[in-house]
Amino acid sequence: MLNFELYNPTNYIFGKGQMEKLSTLVPKGAKILLAYGGGSIFKNGVHKQVTDNLKGFEIVEFGGIEPNPHFETLMKAVEIIKEKKIDFILAVGGGSVIDGVKFISAAVNFDGNPIELLQKRILVKENAMPFGTVLTLPATGSEMNSGAVVTIAATQEKLSFGGSALFPKFSICDPTVISSLPKRQIENGVVDAFTHVMEQYLTYPHDAYLQDRIAEGILQTLIEIGPKVVANPDDYKLASNFMWCCTMALNGLLNKGVPTDWATHMIGHELTALYGIDHARTLAIIGPHLYDVMFETKKEKLAQYGKRIFNLTGSDDEVAKEAINKSVEFFHLMGMDTKLSDYTEEYQNTADFIVERFEKRGWKALGEKQNITLEKVKKIVEASY
Ligand code: NZQ
Ligand code: ZN
Repeated sequence: MLNFELYNPTNYIFGKGQMEKLSTLVPKGAKILLAYGGGSIFKNGVHKQVTDNLKGFEIVEFGGIEPNPHFETLMKAVEIIKEKKIDFILAVGGGSVIDGVKFISAAVNFDGNPIELLQKRILVKENAMPFGTVLTLPATGSEMNSGAVVTIAATQEKLSFGGSALFPKFSICDPTVISSLPKRQIENGVVDAFTHVMEQYLTYPHDAYLQDRIAEGILQTLIEIGPKVVANPDDYKLASNFMWCCTMALNGLLNKGVPTDWATHMIGHELTALYGIDHARTLAIIGPHLYDVMFETKKEKLAQYGKRIFNLTGSDDEVAKEAINKSVEFFHLMGMDTKLSDYTEEYQNTADFIVERFEKRGWKALGEKQNITLEKVKKIVEASY
């Protein structure tokens, strides 16, 4: 096992009715920016729950954080914070609102142009404004990690950044919120969490046995409950397991002591930036082709995955190949289209465009073995047409 440090200061508060604790979690006397997205929180009652539990606090509201949040929108919140002398931010929403708040939190006290946080991928270790979250969409794990992804609309670039100062102070995670989610977003959540596990698990054999078993436990649970939770979003048993799987998939536990890949995400982000495809759907398009193109690197782990997750039998090569097919089948069952051409007719130059971008950014060697070269990226994207 590789050496590691495990640091996660987020106070994770899970379950039905936990919103009642909100007023005790926000610092006393704080002036709060309540940040939210396109307004779902007004329809499902979450806004009312939040404000009812924050009586006595001074609150300034900032709405309109879009899915795949825009740098340009978030900078408006930064101005408001400075103008109104806000000292705490509360993100109420899904991954986009939480990621947006992470950016706002880092940008407020940033010495320089905050766009550099994204363009230079600056590690945020200090000077961030404290924030908490009320999660409304299980998927990203952003509620318990210190990373974020923000889009610069002007250049159509979707870039990740983060740092130890960007863990939420607390996250209230009440699984009943999923009952108002559109089916598509629940499907997205399952596939995003599934792929987060794969990015940290489907590499090459190493000796972190526990991480493998935890990863496999999350994959199996998602396969077991994924289709059911889409069909029965009011079922608390399913909702609570789904929400916990999503957090555990990306709260910094699985990657301890192991190699990680993340190339599916890096390529997927480009598809969202270019075509506006939902984050999870880009992963379903790219992931299986990446496993296929990188078969030689990943085949031992693919075989382990095939045997332990899908109970496949045969030679390791056969099991590994079939495991990729089984992953695609699962994505289809979860309502994903898995070809780029299912989403856009303008796909022909996508691979060249992405390769050119990666080259400019110096991203010439991705993946757990740094052997996903630009040539491989081209192959993977072309295979997804
Ligand atoms: O904006 P509102 O009106 O709230 O509606 C949202 C949005 O339209 C809606 N929604 C959320 N909760 C709801 C609800 N509708 C009804 N009832 C509810 N309870 O769902 C839509 C999508 O929301 P969004 O936050 O965009 O989805 P998600 O949580 O999947 O977040 C995706 C973003 O997170 C990034 C992605 O790249 C993408 O930008 N990621 C962040 C990660 C991280 N910080 O660790 C890791 C991930 O890999 C991912 O890259
Ligand atoms: Zn993701």
